[in-house]
This record gives sequence, structure tokens and C-alpha cells, in this order.
Amino acid sequence: MCGIAGYSGPKNADQVLILALERLKYRGYDSAGLAILHQGEIHLRRAAGKIKALSDKLESFPVAGHCGIAHTRWATHGAPTEANCHPHVGGPDVPTVAVVHNGIIENHDALRRELQALGDVFSSETDTEVIPKLIARAYTGDPEAAVRAVLPRLEGSFAFAVIFADQPGRILAARQGSPLLIGRGKKEYLLASDVPALLPHATEVTYLNDGELVDFTAETCVITTFAGTPVEPKFTRIEITADAVEMGDFDSFMAKEIAEQPVVLSRLLESRLAGDRLVEPDLGLDLKAVNHIVFLACGTSWHAALLGKRFLEQLARVHVEVDISSEYRYRNPVAGGDTLVVAISQSGETADTLASVRMAKAKFLPVVGLVNVVTSTIAREASGVMPLFAGPEIGVASTKAYTAQVLALYLFALQVAKAKGLLSREEELKAIVAARALPDQVRRTLAAAEGPVQEAADLFSAAEATVFLGRLGEHPTALEGALKLKEIAYVHAIGYPAGEFKHGPIALVTQHLPVVCICPQDAMYEKMLSNLQEVKARSGRVIAVGDGNDRHLQDLSDVVFPVETPLDPLLQPILTILPLQRYAYHVAMRRDCNVDQPRNLAKSVTVE
Ligand code: F6R
Repeated sequence: MCGIAGYSGPKNADQVLILALERLKYRGYDSAGLAILHQGEIHLRRAAGKIKALSDKLESFPVAGHCGIAHTRWATHGAPTEANCHPHVGGPDVPTVAVVHNGIIENHDALRRELQALGDVFSSETDTEVIPKLIARAYTGDPEAAVRAVLPRLEGSFAFAVIFADQPGRILAARQGSPLLIGRGKKEYLLASDVPALLPHATEVTYLNDGELVDFTAETCVITTFAGTPVEPKFTRIEITADAVEMGDFDSFMAKEIAEQPVVLSRLLESRLAGDRLVEPDLGLDLKAVNHIVFLACGTSWHAALLGKRFLEQLARVHVEVDISSEYRYRNPVAGGDTLVVAISQSGETADTLASVRMAKAKFLPVVGLVNVVTSTIAREASGVMPLFAGPEIGVASTKAYTAQVLALYLFALQVAKAKGLLSREEELKAIVAARALPDQVRRTLAAAEGPVQEAADLFSAAEATVFLGRLGEHPTALEGALKLKEIAYVHAIGYPAGEFKHGPIALVTQHLPVVCICPQDAMYEKMLSNLQEVKARSGRVIAVGDGNDRHLQDLSDVVFPVETPLDPLLQPILTILPLQRYAYHVAMRRDCNVDQPRNLAKSVTVE
């Protein structure tokens, strides 16, 4: 979590850095700060609260200079106060060194005690502050030597950037476990935790690997390993445009990303289909030999993984396990030679999923990354990559990446089935027709559900709890619908397999409890209707998700969210989740919540 940025070039550094922080705020937004080098001094500006608070401060107390570092924070050690804001500084009297840091220094307590014993006075509760203090003590005029001397003392994960008061235009940065990118523009270099923050200034990017250190100015960029071995930077063109990371005419990134889903799914289909044939992704694997698949993921990606299991079981008859990455990494899982590990991660940077990938690789298991960010660490470390092509997802709540993950998993299951001789040509054709019909169905479903969704939000936005029920493929939809409502509208919500409801949670039902019953026209329809009746019989309020023309649903529900029926029932969850995304959005709006920056959250969970 946290986003860091740096700039050295001809422009006003504060302006470049504020824009970079805006683009990184999905990584944390509880406080922000920057440090600018000017005439041999480090000028600090820091503010608790949103980045706007920092911009306001800069208006009242402007700062000049063409080189600086900046940070947007997601608090781990210490509350989001101004004192805990980055940059943190070191130096005997006035600051000689300033540092921004993303990650956690696990041995900070011991280092702090050691530095305090030497006379250093700390002004924050953060783990970060030990870094500038150590560097300032090690500095005798050679910045690289000082940073190199400190690196072996730091335990944990980090990406940090450092400036020195007497080194104009120069920034050093190191990476061990947290992402760090270097952008190159016209006579300027930038650094950031993610590509969007390099735009529009940089046209090319290179990615630091763990154990690498960069030392750059406006005109030079030198990368070495921590041990000092030179690394040839490989700059590649930045493919995303500034438009892709702007909100456009929408009021939030979440609204924009929900609306983008038809285009995202079409793009994914184009990448995986050639006419009426599946294109096998180049994973360097014999899919025929795969008999056991382990999906690893967190949060929304874990919900997609649950659907991946269903697709693979149904279509390819492969034994599948789904594990939450933070659990898997501390277990001692049994896995044989025919096991394939698939790590699902929008960002490709989630700490627990990355750790699980490394653990699986250490057991010599093949690992495929199903990622949206193809330049991410998981993408680079996995033996094969299946990209989602969803474009940058900036809203903290995952929406378009989720539906893309689900479709990608469906296509992957078809591929495995085909490799194993379990998919006839006729079945392949039918599946492709069903998949190709989806983007238009998504477009129509979003349009048709909007009125009822708003009606339900008007009715239920004050409810303090909501239950979501679904069976089989709609159980992950129930989990995902509940997660969306929790995270952006702060409504306590649970998703439950509907058959389990009467084993306890039904006790929650009163006339104040909205229960969302996901009842499309599938094999579970009758059973779901019974669940719905049971809720109704206890005076519960019902939102049904299903066929808009279904009289039963209309009679039994307060509101029906109409969804289309796909040509392959396995694809239904891609449609049923759509009104639930919009429902969470509308409830959040009515509760005055910031849907793009929900409290306590960050988009990429890069710490444990
Ligand atoms: C919820 C959400 C999170 C992420 C989770 C994993 O809307 O976005 O639950 O799904 O943090 O993130 P990735 O997919 O980047 O590994």
C-alpha cells in the first residue's frame, strides 16, 4: 500500500508530484506529503487527509524546485496524522536527507532503539523514519554509498526514494518487495509505484526488480543491484494513455469502470478467440497433462476463483482447489507434479498472492498469473501469464476486472477441456457464440437494471445490514455483491449459499432486513424461489435478481433487478453481478460515501 513518486527535470516538481499522487491515491489516501530540493535545502509540505489538503497547503505555502519526492499514505504504523506523513527526514539539525517509503520495515523497533541511544530524536510513530535517520548517519558525501550501507540493515518489504539536501536534481531509490518504476520523458526522469503516475510526462518505463537500486537526475539514470553490479535499464514504451486514467464524463472511476464492462469483455474475447476458434494462451504448459489446479487469490479475485473452479469442474472435469492466498502461504499444502497453480490478481502486486506464487515456485510447481497489470510482479514471476486486458482499474472496488476474470476463467476452462478431448467442435462453437453474445447482454442488462436498482437504493439505503443469497455459480455472486456493499457503502453485508441460510442466518430476518435473492432461470431456480418464500414468510424485504418478466419473482419481491439469460448458463454470474455493482454504488452515493476512496482501504494490498 501507499504510493510513492519522484521527479527530476525542468518542470515545477510540486505540480508534477501532486498529479502523480492523484494517480496513486488508489494505493492509500489518508495523508500525503512531498519534499522538494531547492537551493541546497529540503522543503517539506505534508498534510493529513486527502491529497486536496496537500494541494491547499501548497497554495498557501508554495515551494519552488525541480526535483522532489512525494507520498500518499495508507497508515500501517501510526495514525494518519501530519507527524506520521511522509516524507520523513534525517540529519543532525536541519534535514539533510528525506525519504518516502512504501512497505513495512519489520525490524524498525530495534533500529529505532539503536538510533535513539545514539541521540536521534524521532518525530513520528512510523517504521519509515528509521530509514532517513540511518542514511543521514551513513552519509559522508556519497549518496549511493550511504544507501548501500543501510540496505542490509532493513528487514521487510520496501520501495523507498531518498533525496539529499546537497545533491541537487538527484534521487536514489531502492526496491525490495514493493513495486517501483522509472519513467523517462524529455530531459526528465520520474519514479512511481505504478505507471499511471508517470503520465503524461514519461513516454517510456522500466521496472526495478527486487534487490535493485536506481540513482537518477533529469538526464541520467543508473541502475545497479544492492551489491553494486550494473543493470542495463530496459525502457519500453508506455502503452496506456492519460485518458485511460482519467474519469472522463463520469462522477467516479467506479461508475466509469462499471460502464466499461462491455468493451472490456469484447477486448478480452478478441485476445482469446480467432473467428470461431479458441486461441490457446501461450503458457508453456501441456494443458492435457494438468489434473489438479489450485487457484490462489484474495478478495474479489477469490470470488472469481470460486467460479473458475465451477467452470473447470463442469467443462474439463479437473480437480480444483480454491485457496485464499493469505491462508495458503502459511499452510503446508499437498501438491503433486500434475498440479498447476493459477494466481488471480487484478493488480499483480497483492502481497499474499505474490508470496503464495513464490512458495509454489519453490515447490517447483508451474504457476500461471491471471492478471490485469501485465507488468506487475506476479506477471513477471509467474511461468505463464493470462492477461485480462481490462485497462487500468482505479476505483478501489473491483468491478470490470472481476467480470473480465470470470470470462477469462471460462475461456481457460474451455481450453483445458479442449486439450483433454472433452470439448467437441460443436460444443466449442456453441460456447464461443455464447461468449461473443455477452458484451451486448452486459450493455443491455446495465441499462435495464438501472431504474430498479435506483428504486431499491431509495428503499433500502438506510438499512444497516443486507444479506445476499445464491446457489452454485450465484454463491460467488452473493459474496461479491455483499463485498461491494460493505466496502463502498459501509453496510454490513453477508453473502451466503442459499441452502445454508436456514442453518442459522435466517434468524437475522426481520421486516428491516433486505435480502437479495439471486434467482436467474437456471437449474437452481426452484430452490431459490423456496428460499425467497422463506424470507417473505418472515416479513423480510426481498430484492430479486433474475428474469425481469418472471411473474413469480415480481409477486414475491419488493424490487426485481432484471438480468438477461446468457446462451451458456455457466456465464450467468457475469450478468447477475452487474446490478449488484450498481446497487452498491447507488447506496453508497445516498449514504454520502466516496466510492472511489472508501475509508480504511487501498487498491493494492502490498503489505501482509
Ligand atoms: C474488492 C477488491 C479487493 C481485491 C483484493 C485482491 O473490491 O478490489 O478485494 O480484489 O484486494 O486484489 P488483486 O486482485 O489486485 O490481487
